[in-house]
Amino acid sequence: MFTSIFTRAIKQSPASIRMMSTNSSITARAIIYSSYGEPIDEIKCHSYNINLNELNENQVVVQSLATPINPSDINQIQGVYPSRPSISIDSLPNLLKPSSVSGNEGLFKVIAIGSNVKNLKINDWCIPLNVNYGTWCTHKLSNENELIKINENLSINQAATIAVNPSSAYQMLTYYEKLNPDDWFVQNGANSQVGRAAIQIAKSRGINSINVVRNRDNIDELKKDLYSIGATKVITDEENESKEFSKEIKSWLNGKEIKLGLNCVGGPSATGLIRKLGNSGTLLTYGGMSMKPVTVPTGLLIFKNLNIKGFWITGNIKSIPNSRIDTINEVTKLIESGVLTEQKYNETELNLDSLTDDQLLEAFINALKNSKSGKQIIKFN
Ligand SMILES: NC(=O)c1ccc[n+]([C@@H]2O[C@H](COP(=O)([O-])OP(=O)(O)OC[C@H]3O[C@@H](n4cnc5c(N)ncnc54)[C@H](OP(=O)(O)O)[C@@H]3O)[C@@H](O)[C@H]2O)c1
Repeated sequence: MFTSIFTRAIKQSPASIRMMSTNSSITARAIIYSSYGEPIDEIKCHSYNINLNELNENQVVVQSLATPINPSDINQIQGVYPSRPSISIDSLPNLLKPSSVSGNEGLFKVIAIGSNVKNLKINDWCIPLNVNYGTWCTHKLSNENELIKINENLSINQAATIAVNPSSAYQMLTYYEKLNPDDWFVQNGANSQVGRAAIQIAKSRGINSINVVRNRDNIDELKKDLYSIGATKVITDEENESKEFSKEIKSWLNGKEIKLGLNCVGGPSATGLIRKLGNSGTLLTYGGMSMKPVTVPTGLLIFKNLNIKGFWITGNIKSIPNSRIDTINEVTKLIESGVLTEQKYNETELNLDSLTDDQLLEAFINALKNSKSGKQIIKFN
């Protein structure tokens, strides 16, 4: 049904709408929620028709290629994330009650365009310009100005996940402290997607990293993996929190002070990072995976004049003009040059030709259930 439309010739309709279909209407499906709570209990599948012959001049219809499950998507459905789409009866056609479409990140392909669309053409890849786009869907009717064209040299997974994790790593290593070659930064949650991107970006600039990870049975395997992507040192949470081990770390620094800490975890792990910072160093907290608060030893705050800040890429989109597009352009270059390599994903592939509402819902419920054991991505073919 859906994929077959792409193989047909581009049709020019009387209203100057260009599309990859001889069908005038397609069935779109979206994962929606109507109230806040645990995502697996709240999400539903909603299907509706998009009439390809009735596009306004600046509208485009896109088909999803891939969308990840990010912690912030889960927090939005739980109602605990500060930036959320409104729950509205107007979110989609034919809703039975006010709802929001889940998902903030994803890669789409253009399948129909209105008569005055200038920057996108049929088959182009694109991602949302802003958060709260509602990416957990098969198709979407959009305005051209809600989308950014994306380079098709990237892999589908890289393009679908470019806007949040690698972009956050790029901004945290670029906007806050001037890090020169041979400088050091320290981070916890180093095996997260943000952490792994930070390791690679730092390595490409000659910057050293101390990477804190949770201990586990196969810790040597994880260390080997992080060293292979460019980590300078990898230590466990226990070593991060140990006063004795700090002497060992000092011996690595060769008289240099650590300028920047990236905190994904909070609790004692964050305090361990803070203790390692040099004078006037900066701790950026971007995640709270342990759900524990960040505690700053008073003496360090006073006598080391530390900068303890939050990092939120969504906040930067609003406060730093063009930061979204500029960052995506820079991260695209880092991917193309091989600095940022493929991340690991647990992929679920769905066939749009035969997809049902129940199958789409089940795929997202399973991905949500598995989201603690690795990054999940839903792909459509
Ligand atoms: N502020 C922002 O703008 C921004 C942007 C992007 C991401 N984030 C946040 O960054 C964090 C990581 O996101 P991601 O997508 O990169 O995640 P991810 O790839 O799914 O990785 C999650 C990481 O968290 C670690 N972790 C999970 N539970 C933990 C716990 N209880 N204590 C310590 N570590 C724990 C995991 O450690 P193991 O490797 O040991 O499993 C893993 O490395 C999330 O909190 C996300 O919301 C924030």
